[in-house]
Amino acid sequence: MCQYNGHFVYLAIFNYVIKITMRVCSIIGYKGESLAAPLLVTCLQKMEYRGYDSVGIGTINDGKVSVRKGVGRVEDVDSTLLLRILPGRIGIGHTRWATHGRVTEANAHPHTSCNGEIAVVHNGIIQNYSQLKSQLLMKGHVFKSETDSEVIAHLLEDDYKETGDLRGAISNTSKKLAGAFSFIAAFSDGTIAGARFDEPLIVGISKDGYYISSDVVGFLNYTDRAIFLDNRDIVILKGSGMEMITFDGAPVVRPVTQVAWEFGGIDKGTYAHFTIKEINEQVETIVKSGRGQESKIEEVSEMLKLAPFIYFTGSGTSYHCALVAKNLLAKYGKRKSDAIVSSEFQYLVNDIERDSVIVAISQSGETADVLEVIKKAKTLGSKIISIVNVPTSSLARLSDVSIHMNCGPEIGVAATKSFTSQLTILYAIVDSLSGGVIGLEDQKYKLQNAVKELVERQRLIEQIAEEIKDVKDIYVLGRSIHYPIALEGALKIKELSYVHAEGIPAGELKHGPLALIDRNSCILVLNPNDSTFDDVKANAHEIKARGASLIGIGNSPSDVYDRFITIPEMDEVFYPLLEVIPFQMIAYYLALEKDANPDYPRNLAKSVTVK
Ligand code: F6R
Repeated sequence: MCQYNGHFVYLAIFNYVIKITMRVCSIIGYKGESLAAPLLVTCLQKMEYRGYDSVGIGTINDGKVSVRKGVGRVEDVDSTLLLRILPGRIGIGHTRWATHGRVTEANAHPHTSCNGEIAVVHNGIIQNYSQLKSQLLMKGHVFKSETDSEVIAHLLEDDYKETGDLRGAISNTSKKLAGAFSFIAAFSDGTIAGARFDEPLIVGISKDGYYISSDVVGFLNYTDRAIFLDNRDIVILKGSGMEMITFDGAPVVRPVTQVAWEFGGIDKGTYAHFTIKEINEQVETIVKSGRGQESKIEEVSEMLKLAPFIYFTGSGTSYHCALVAKNLLAKYGKRKSDAIVSSEFQYLVNDIERDSVIVAISQSGETADVLEVIKKAKTLGSKIISIVNVPTSSLARLSDVSIHMNCGPEIGVAATKSFTSQLTILYAIVDSLSGGVIGLEDQKYKLQNAVKELVERQRLIEQIAEEIKDVKDIYVLGRSIHYPIALEGALKIKELSYVHAEGIPAGELKHGPLALIDRNSCILVLNPNDSTFDDVKANAHEIKARGASLIGIGNSPSDVYDRFITIPEMDEVFYPLLEVIPFQMIAYYLALEKDANPDYPRNLAKSVTVK
């Protein structure tokens, strides 16, 4: 999908779409011939999956900055506040996922300077904002919000006053900020400027103007020509031109990238939600994953063969994939490895062996916890392999070898098809390393049919969701390679339906959790036909004796289960890839039963770029 050709990179649009994993906030700027506000509203709607508790727009018209902002989804705030009628052909916009400060109108962006001549939108975290804020308060600045972001507007005002030079002010302000950030500032004289450090910022060049955005999806409706800014880059749109400098003021030139678009990928089509669309897409993505990347898969398998130490890492769903990978590698590749969740690994990574190979798994390639591990490990000499869905992501760029998931945009906040895609690639790597023991290629079409059969079980899953909608606690049990799927199943249920759910190794039940089980509990049991079958079934009987309701997932229905979801027969190695699908569907339909929006779970965002 991605061929590097000098300064010209051609990419399928879905490669950019960020399930950019909790991309916490989205920022966008426009300067051109069209009216800015309606355009910015549309751009923000496209990026809403990244963060969505409040929204705001600021435009410049006749030397005046106008701002409107409010709490809620873009569509709702626009219909109450009429964001789109703000005047002017220059503007900035923001959707927020709160990090500093509550979800209030005052904390929504844009934030303005005291003199009202500068408006700022920001994505990321300003770590030193409290020191900066104290200094600014001493100088007499008045703050209107509780956010870290507002310091940027006041700093720019201060630096502009001091230097009398807008360019100098932007670079001075950028240098004072610590943390990971990208921001766009609009000035009453009609200038727009963006700066980035460790958060993406992309310039879109269209026939009628320029865009600056945290996400290429923001402007893809209008242009396919983009410039990806590097760390410590500043872009300034002044008059009708564009200038790029570093934080130190040195001129810089970055290549123009052409983005090929596949709009269908970021549309719900006939589905009610992106999440169910993406669950269904697994019928295709399961065979597409890894396609065209056979040589990279081989290269990675050679690296793993030679590696003295192997670590898999990732966050959330991607970490669950890492756990399955460790299991697969041990069983079929006869190689020992460890799987460590990235938010914990960052404290251990200084102590790992120097010649380790780290396999980082991340849909977005932007998850802060993962990047923290990788950056540290690289300085110690580790080799980095990544599996990502966004080939231009920070993680892909930092890696020695990066394999693209190729599963298309994942807009639903909960990871679904990206999980099965990353897992399929890991199967391919272990298969290559083990001389074909798994036989993935030969089984792919059988696998595809099995996925198809599973997604067609909609009616049964809807009934199950209806039956369990009032339970307070769900426990998911699995042994061996199925335990990570139990964790993943519980995570899906928690995040989509807000029901408490826990994944437990089935053998651990008797060591404590059994105390929680009574008639009101609902237990989902991974009980496929493999070496875990008898032990898990015995666990199911122990639970049955305590009166809880039991739902089995496996190949052989049994009386012990009140309900049973049958997984099509396949070589047992493939069961983890299949078992996860009923959980995704249960979580989705449970969310509907609870009147929750499965695409946008509360408090969560798609790309988690904060630690
Ligand atoms: C769960 C989910 C999250 C992500 C996690 C890592 O459904 O989406 O747990 O898996 O935030 O994101 P990536 O894979 O982008 O690093």
